[in-house]
Amino acid sequence: MDGKIHVMYSEEQIDARIRELGAAVSADLNGEPVHLVCVLKGASFFACELAKRMTVPVYMDFMCVSSYGNDTRSSGEVRIVKDLDDSVEGKHVLIAEDIIDSGNTLHFLLEEFQKRGAADVRICALLSKPDRRETEVPADYIGYVIPDVFVVGYGLDYAQQYRNLPYIGVLDI
Ligand code: IMP
Ligand code: MG
Repeated sequence: MDGKIHVMYSEEQIDARIRELGAAVSADLNGEPVHLVCVLKGASFFACELAKRMTVPVYMDFMCVSSYGNDTRSSGEVRIVKDLDDSVEGKHVLIAEDIIDSGNTLHFLLEEFQKRGAADVRICALLSKPDRRETEVPADYIGYVIPDVFVVGYGLDYAQQYRNLPYIGVLDI
């Protein structure tokens, strides 16, 4: 099963990169507490590791969204499957996402949290595939910019498989 997966970023590389992201985000927040929104399920590993590397007070909240449409092409419409537990009104929000693909998910979340009265909303994505973008999103922090390949591991799945791989790999499909 793992034979079809080629390692792109090792566990050690990802750990080092997340430490850098955590330091950068913390420096920008300048001691202010942050409402860290983990976008389920893909960002779960990333959000937890990022939280561990942040030096400001972190409140963790979880949201699950899904795009209408088929697997390969989303329609751009996003719906909330599980909402946050708490209000983001007046808070500094940091969205932790696994990967920016079309950009539709983060575009939706950004507008949603702005509507809810967040003081500001930052985006931190472990990966970005700019070649696939349909909607531009202002991503403040990106772990790695990658080409248009399908990746799995470190929270990312293919048909709900491979999320638990400790590295990020390219899946031959
Ligand atoms: P989008 O930016 O709204 O198109 O959606 C991004 C979501 O699509 C991510 O949160 C992932 O769940 C999923 N996704 C996009 N590209 C990949 C990939 O290469 N591997 C696994 N999931 C992906
Ligand atoms: Mg996802």
